[in-house]
Amino acid sequence: MKYNNKIIICLTGGKIMKGNDIREAYLSFFEEKKNHLRLKSFPLIPKDDPSLLLIGAGMAPMKPYFTGKVEPPCHRITTSQKCIRTGDIENVGRTARHHTFFEMLGNFSFGDYFKKEAIEWAWEFLTEVLKMDKERLYVTIFPDDQDAYNYWHKNMGVAENHIYRLEDNFWEIGEGPCGPDSEIFFDQGESFGTDPANQMGGDGDRFLEIWNLVFSQFDRQKDGTYLPLAKKNIDTGAGLERLAAVMQQKKNNFESDLFFPIISEASKLSGAVYGVKESDDVALKVISDHARAITNMISDGVLPSNEGRGYVLRRVLRRAIRFGKLIGIEKQFMGRMIDVVVDMMKPEYPELYEKRDFIKKVASVEEERFQSTLNAGTELLSEMIEDSKKKHINKLSGEYVFKLYDTYGFPWELTDEIAKEEGMSIDKEGFIISMNKQKERARNARVKISAKVLTPDTTKLDAKNLTVKDEDVDTTIVMLGKNGEEILSATDGEDLVVILKNNPFHAEGGGQMGDIGILRNSSGVFEVHNTKKLPDGIVYLIGTITEGKISVNDIVEVKVDRVRRAALAKNHTGTHLLHAALRQVLGKQATQAGSLVAPDHLRFDFTWNEPLTAKQINDVEKLVNEKILESLTLTTKEVPLEEARKAGALALFGEKYGKIVRMVRIGDFSLELCGGSHTHTTGEVGSFRIISESGIGSGLRRIVALTGISAYKAMVSDRKLIENSAVLLKCKKEEILNKIDKLNGDLKKAEHDILKLKNEQAKGELSSLMSDIKNKNGISFFASTAHADNINELRKIADMIKDKLPKGAFVLSSVSNGKVNFVGMASKEAVEAGIHMGKVVSQVAKICNGGGGGKPTVAQAGGKDISKVEDAIKESEKIIESMIK
Ligand code: ALA
Repeated sequence: MKYNNKIIICLTGGKIMKGNDIREAYLSFFEEKKNHLRLKSFPLIPKDDPSLLLIGAGMAPMKPYFTGKVEPPCHRITTSQKCIRTGDIENVGRTARHHTFFEMLGNFSFGDYFKKEAIEWAWEFLTEVLKMDKERLYVTIFPDDQDAYNYWHKNMGVAENHIYRLEDNFWEIGEGPCGPDSEIFFDQGESFGTDPANQMGGDGDRFLEIWNLVFSQFDRQKDGTYLPLAKKNIDTGAGLERLAAVMQQKKNNFESDLFFPIISEASKLSGAVYGVKESDDVALKVISDHARAITNMISDGVLPSNEGRGYVLRRVLRRAIRFGKLIGIEKQFMGRMIDVVVDMMKPEYPELYEKRDFIKKVASVEEERFQSTLNAGTELLSEMIEDSKKKHINKLSGEYVFKLYDTYGFPWELTDEIAKEEGMSIDKEGFIISMNKQKERARNARVKISAKVLTPDTTKLDAKNLTVKDEDVDTTIVMLGKNGEEILSATDGEDLVVILKNNPFHAEGGGQMGDIGILRNSSGVFEVHNTKKLPDGIVYLIGTITEGKISVNDIVEVKVDRVRRAALAKNHTGTHLLHAALRQVLGKQATQAGSLVAPDHLRFDFTWNEPLTAKQINDVEKLVNEKILESLTLTTKEVPLEEARKAGALALFGEKYGKIVRMVRIGDFSLELCGGSHTHTTGEVGSFRIISESGIGSGLRRIVALTGISAYKAMVSDRKLIENSAVLLKCKKEEILNKIDKLNGDLKKAEHDILKLKNEQAKGELSSLMSDIKNKNGISFFASTAHADNINELRKIADMIKDKLPKGAFVLSSVSNGKVNFVGMASKEAVEAGIHMGKVVSQVAKICNGGGGGKPTVAQAGGKDISKVEDAIKESEKIIESMIK
């Protein structure tokens, strides 16, 4: 039986459903008709599950519900889960249904219903809600699963020849719940092919798996063994993209409305038309798939990096950029793709819309970075491939692959894919070796730097016995360390580590520098140069013994440098004010990327693509100062992370926060997660001054600013500058600008007058130089001494004379810097009369103990003995005269 489009429409009940409608139909079917709790998709970043990098199946975020570790909010749940799978990324774009990002529709039972209902409801949804033709549905079961067979065949009436028993019908993903499964396939028709690949169970596209029902009964352990689960569960997964393609009668997922708007946009940008050229189609499909993955990963907090999930994102982004380039997109384009994805997906995922600017900013920074090396890297790779081919090697060496990775930012997978396009492979092991070597080098370098301040083993200290009261009261030294070893006492000045029983010093963190201060008792003095914190929360002081001896169990007097601490607090509060002001003036895309809170200044890095205008800088500075003048109260509150997020507190991506976080609120103006030191009111910040704004790499800007006494000092130094200027300019402060204006005018006039005088002087000099011209046989000649600071100036004078002395010859000399220069020139007629200037000049230079020469028409020379200049000049005239025939 042939299926053409017309028939398909009636076979699927005449319903052409949009992707968003199918999702909704599925979720409301299970919610309303089958009593499931409908939950939003969990984020792509797994929570508390180190076995997974990213969520890759609907059940993955619910593992603890399956194993019984956590009680689910309901024993029936339904979701549409965002998923990322990149294991076969090189297939994406080349097949009809491989994706990096997809949505998995699922219904789950935790010890509630089992096989019978799972099968019945799946069938009901497909045949009654989506109205798929039963004749076109096939199922597979695990060979021994007679129950499943009976439910399909007897209860649902699926024909025997539509049921296949397959050995690999067992579903698992790493550790966790798993079990035998039963898959449902849709027959797309003979037009997809009738070859063996396009039979049920083959690799072709005709029989499309649309749903997988897993009868979850086991818990796979780390070591690969399977333990039975206490309760039987159901885990199902239906690919939304496949259902959309089937319901919309498209031959591949990319032509469904979940992808095609992105393809159209990429097509507009590149001019590549979908459906004309195979390679263009691949690129358009890759871009449409990857744009969805990129948008959702960034939205869920993944940032491009060289490790873990950040690397997955980087790889996907860079692959998309390369395919964009292949179809001729030269400019940045990811932002436009993201816009399309956000508009398509926002009905289900409104957060995409809220984070749109941020997502685009992150992608654009990465895009800019990679675009700058993509061309050079591609060129180099072509050379490498050519070179290897010439040598009949069909494997790119690990060093090559590493160089492309390290210098040009080519993920090795991308190099591998490009190599494959050229019929080559890469030496992956060699690449890993080169990579490890470099890591080793970096590690060694790091160890050298940190060796001096390594902390001793603190595990024997009971953190509970250590307190952190912020008061300068006497306390006991509980541990001393040097070069990573525990010691009992020390007298010398080496870098020591001290741990106190009660510690009032604030450790370095969140950009804020650590406290400094003094520990002292009758036997010695220890200067604290920095304070740091170990991951377990123990704070240690780094410093030097400057007097006597310090020992463990000593009771010491403690003095934190409180003036410096107060300055740190002012700059930290100033930093929060600056962050909030930037977001108000520039927009929400201006997001903190790093900061330094020092006692004498603050530095704030943020995402922004172009230099701030003078007006923006002024506006930000003014807004911060207004908030200081309002003397807003700062409050801090410890709350669970979730509550802080709900309150809208700004947190740094990539920063690790514990379960309980500290929120710092400044009136209604700013709310951030922060553990640092702050003032009580903004008034204490005093004032705020931006002293520079600059770019620090693509998409990042840096502001350096001052608060408190530093801002005051900067004001005083500006005032001094103005006052001193007024003194030097001999005017009042208010008149400085007018005075400078006037002086500029005067200077210009003076320069003009000088030039005029110089010209006149030169003219005068010429006539005096040429005052004694001799003549022989119609040739004029003379020699004399001019004023010139160097040989070039002398030549200029000679050139002027030449113009005035048509049939003539002359030698000029000048003395400067203790040396003498000669320039001689002769006209054509003079040369015809027998003069050779090269010879003349060379002879006379000798008189001054020098040398030189040149052509008959022009020559130059230098000499050391300036006392003989007069003789040389006289001799010049004589030689010239003797040469004239
Ligand atoms: N967890 C099953 C799958 O991903 C439903 O196929």
